[in-house]
Amino acid sequence: MTIIAPSILSADFAKLGEDVREAERCGADWIHIDIMDGQFVPNLTFGPPVVGAIRSYTSLPFDVHLMVNTPERLFEDLKKAGADRITVHAEACLHLHRTIHAIRELGLKAGVALNPHTPLSVLDHILEDIDLALIMTVNPGFGGQSFIPAMLPKIRDLRGRLDAKGLHGVHIEVDGGINGETAALVAQAGANALVAGNYIYGNNDRASAISTLKNSAKA
Ligand code: DX5
Ligand code: ZN
Repeated sequence: MTIIAPSILSADFAKLGEDVREAERCGADWIHIDIMDGQFVPNLTFGPPVVGAIRSYTSLPFDVHLMVNTPERLFEDLKKAGADRITVHAEACLHLHRTIHAIRELGLKAGVALNPHTPLSVLDHILEDIDLALIMTVNPGFGGQSFIPAMLPKIRDLRGRLDAKGLHGVHIEVDGGINGETAALVAQAGANALVAGNYIYGNNDRASAISTLKNSAKA
């Protein structure tokens, strides 16, 4: 079953706790939390204190997507705030192998995100060390952007590489421009975890948005 992870970037920041609770009630599997530093990406969101503030509103795993430089400075505080998974950008890490292991040493699941232009080959020597690879299907920084179709062969290629190594437990997550149509395309290409911000939080009927994503991914 495909994992659906609503991105709270598109939620109402004035009532984040309630929007997180509602996502769980509407069938979400993970809560996707976008942390941006205004440096790695041209937008600024929030940090570990806000993650901690919404922790008690849901029992769903917190899937934290760090769009920040030197992400390792946030790991301990994010663990204390209740993060379950932490994904860093390959482009933001000089010592990616070390960074991934720092996440795992805290007992958290480690992911690596790739910007649209970043080749899969940066993962070649660390596929065995990660729990998740996040293929960005837009340029990170903002919600509501259009899906980049050239990412479909990249997802297929990654699925092939994971299968060839027998790494069936590594999630392929996609993030950006996911809706009823693109969900089917990325799932066919091999993605099994779908982030969606605008499509879910921009819809008055969030339960139906989530079930549409799940059904499209199955088709
Ligand atoms: C973009 C963020 C995404 C964003 C996706 O940089 O990483 O998680 O919220 O938004 P949509 O689904 O609206 O494209
Ligand atoms: Zn994200």
